[in-house]
Amino acid sequence: MKASRMFQAAAKTFWVASTTSREILSTIRHYCKKTPTTLRVSEAVSGAGLDTNIKVQGWVRSVRPQKTHLFLHVNDGSSLQPLQIVASSELNNPSLTFGCAVEVTGTLKRSPHQKQPVELEAHQIQVVGECDPVDFPFKIKERHSLEYLRQFPHLRCRTNAFSSLLRVRSEATTAIQSYFKKNGFVQIHTPVITSNDCEGAGELFQVEPSSPESNEDENFFSVPAFLTVSGQLHLEVMSGALSKVFTFGPTFRAENSQSRRHLAEFYMVEAEVSFTESLEDLTKVVEDVFRSATEHVLAHCPEDVDLFHKHVTPGHRETVDSMMKKRFPMISYTEAIDILNRSSEKFAFPTNWGCDLQTEHEKYLVKHCGNIPVFVTDYPYDLKPFYARDNQDHPEHTAAAVDLLVPGVGELCGGSLREERLDLLRARLEEAGLEETYSWYLDLRRFGSVPHGGFGLGFERYLQCILGVENIKDVIPFPRFSHSCLL
Ligand code: 4AD
Repeated sequence: MKASRMFQAAAKTFWVASTTSREILSTIRHYCKKTPTTLRVSEAVSGAGLDTNIKVQGWVRSVRPQKTHLFLHVNDGSSLQPLQIVASSELNNPSLTFGCAVEVTGTLKRSPHQKQPVELEAHQIQVVGECDPVDFPFKIKERHSLEYLRQFPHLRCRTNAFSSLLRVRSEATTAIQSYFKKNGFVQIHTPVITSNDCEGAGELFQVEPSSPESNEDENFFSVPAFLTVSGQLHLEVMSGALSKVFTFGPTFRAENSQSRRHLAEFYMVEAEVSFTESLEDLTKVVEDVFRSATEHVLAHCPEDVDLFHKHVTPGHRETVDSMMKKRFPMISYTEAIDILNRSSEKFAFPTNWGCDLQTEHEKYLVKHCGNIPVFVTDYPYDLKPFYARDNQDHPEHTAAAVDLLVPGVGELCGGSLREERLDLLRARLEEAGLEETYSWYLDLRRFGSVPHGGFGLGFERYLQCILGVENIKDVIPFPRFSHSCLL
């Protein structure tokens, strides 16, 4: 008797509980139907959330008011393609202009038009941030030149061209990181502030506190310190224990240049490999990084790349395709000089053995080799920094150094085998009066030195090369160069 009452009480509780949970479930379902799901524009245009209530947030790229309907294009930077919004003209309002920020809710429907697969039938359009179309420097339907956009580093990301560039830049970064990860390289965060001038070219920005009181007599770090011109020497330290290392970060050069391929702050991909005695081991890594990053970018942001290949540098796609089809040839510096001297081209700079290759020479060599990237190896010893390995050859005295020259840009990458022999390195540093400064570097040769080498690849120049962008200032979010540091 007692047990059956207990059972009835338990059953009642269970019924009440299950009724309550059923109600909760139905309320959730009802609520879910009513509450719009927030989607990125890229998700919406790919058809996610079809026939459901969704919300998108972004910036208006076009406004077309018609008699009964209002058409908008909204983009949030997640893809090149905007989402078409269709609304009753009653939802129009004067602050709904090109460039304003909006939040739109409605039902995502298949579009009857061929141009876009879906459109959002808006129930509500809220202007989150107004934009005065007269003062806004970009005009609806106008295709502004990259040079014009450059004047507005704080606003140019609102344009199709620059947002495409930023997505390509982001994907290329991911691809480069993942190439190194897949191939057993350890990423090293090399310092931004350093006390060495790796390249020895004296193109350094010195670092001191801005207020003079804090460092009256001395340097802040007690030694002169600079923004890094290369992470190479720090990578060499790490390759002495981890074998294969890389770094990818900002690099600074105080070059007084306004050229189309120089910045005062740029990003460099650098790698260092231990236990290698051949430049081919290095050029293989360079070529593989180039190919895998380019394949990834072409596969992951085809529309963004097309925008550049169609509207910025028409015809550049063929150049990229032929770069990807053929292996990169390799010629020696001596052969390169021969090619230049045999050509009928009139060069502004001399081309005798021992001269540094200038941009005009690099571009000629690339054309000569079929307009694809070409490696040039074994440069005159005296042209290369102290760390480059001596080939000990005669009569020409060369170093085991390599540059990669690419279409449209010229030098994309510079690398070398490093001088791992203590006596030769010490002699060269002594000659330059640098033995004391680099005593720690000599230590690397005293304690378990191995043959090794590495390279540095200019990331902005890589983007110029694959997109066909002429000016390096158009492939970095905030360009820094002599006499210009906007924002
Ligand atoms: O040839 P660089 O000077 O080589 C080095 O710094 C080596 N220490 C790298 C290494 O072996 N770890 O520079 C490498 C690349 C150049 O080929 C070029 O693409 C890029 O960096 N670069 C610049 N990019 C933009 N603006 C500048 N001012 C640049 N200077 C060099």
